[in-house]
Amino acid sequence: MKLPFISSVDLVVGVDIGSHAVKVCQLKKGDKAYSVVSVGSTLLPEGAVDDGTLNEPEIVGAAIAELFKNLKIKKKKVGFSISGYSVIVKKVNLAVMNEEQMEEHILAEAEQYIPFDIQDVYLDFQDLKTGSGENERTDVMLVAAKKDIVDDYLDMLDSIGLQATIVDVDGFALENTYEYNMPKTDNVALVDIGASKMNINIISGGMSMVARDIVVGSRQLTERIMNHFDIEYEEAEAIKLGNQPAGDRQEELEDIFSTVCTQWVLEVKKAIDLYHNNYPDAPLVKLVLSGGGAKVAGLTDYLTQETGLSVELFNPFANMISNDKKIDPDYLKTIGPEMAIASGIAIRPSIV
Ligand SMILES: Nc1ncnc2c1ncn2[C@@H]1O[C@H](COP(=O)(O)OP(=O)(O)OP(=O)(O)O)[C@@H](O)[C@H]1O
Ligand SMILES: [Mg+2]
Repeated sequence: MKLPFISSVDLVVGVDIGSHAVKVCQLKKGDKAYSVVSVGSTLLPEGAVDDGTLNEPEIVGAAIAELFKNLKIKKKKVGFSISGYSVIVKKVNLAVMNEEQMEEHILAEAEQYIPFDIQDVYLDFQDLKTGSGENERTDVMLVAAKKDIVDDYLDMLDSIGLQATIVDVDGFALENTYEYNMPKTDNVALVDIGASKMNINIISGGMSMVARDIVVGSRQLTERIMNHFDIEYEEAEAIKLGNQPAGDRQEELEDIFSTVCTQWVLEVKKAIDLYHNNYPDAPLVKLVLSGGGAKVAGLTDYLTQETGLSVELFNPFANMISNDKKIDPDYLKTIGPEMAIASGIAIRPSIV
């Protein structure tokens, strides 16, 4: 969704709570560009966050508090984002009406659009204004998020003195950071590959046309390496990242990468095919990869070969100003893909 034009506003600190790591990004809005105030990440213990659910709120809270302390972030207003089974994003087509009427209508009719009990969800919507005249219809983006999941995050943040004024959705955060960094490109597939999930968001005409979360990610690679060589998690992760030489395991390792990446590519291709079948007149021009899993060596080339699209690794800070003396430019570049969602949350104004 497009950001409203707001100048010199107070922005939230973006907090992306993944299953592998928490990523934090603080930005400042200048006249011409955003500048990076602070960025950092911290690993989470296995199982602390699983499929978007906060299993260990105290551990996650302590990790975020420590990260804020290390990064010397004083700001208390934050935004976080949700994804997976706890949130449903749906485009519906309704008769044109004013905001109040639309709210009433959606509340009354919500149960036909979303598979949750209306009492159990927070509902939000945005009129995409695809129609405006009387007797016309317009597309409306509906977002329903499970209250218990969102409340767990709000309570956890509250317990460490942070106030969440924005609850975003991973796919929207990706879209926002992408549109800021590459405003002129259209018909693009944004693909974030994390540790345990892949978020695909295909954008055309400034709108999300295909959006899905799939339960695949870079942790699959670690698990397969663990099982195949009968080694512990840490060693498998180090081998995966190339921090420990593979030695005579190289060939088998390549087979593991190839099997897992083939599955990822198939999922991406399925989403692209769905998009092309529905919108044959607006072919995709580009695929933009983010998330830690996007950094698998050779993945961009493999995707180019399989999809025929130009594929690039996303750097959310490409159009932002940063102080090289404060933030190491190499670190900023390396962490860029993982920071996509946090940066997308961090460009949001902290409206209460
Ligand atoms: N060069 C690399 N090759 C392969 N995997 C990598 C590389 N660098 C990072 N990763 C993996 O990326 C994952 C972390 O990425 P990210 O921070 O995007 O995940 P997350 O947001 O915590 O997870 P999720 O969103 O799936 O819950 C880890 O599994 C990590 O091992
Ligand atoms: Mg993630």
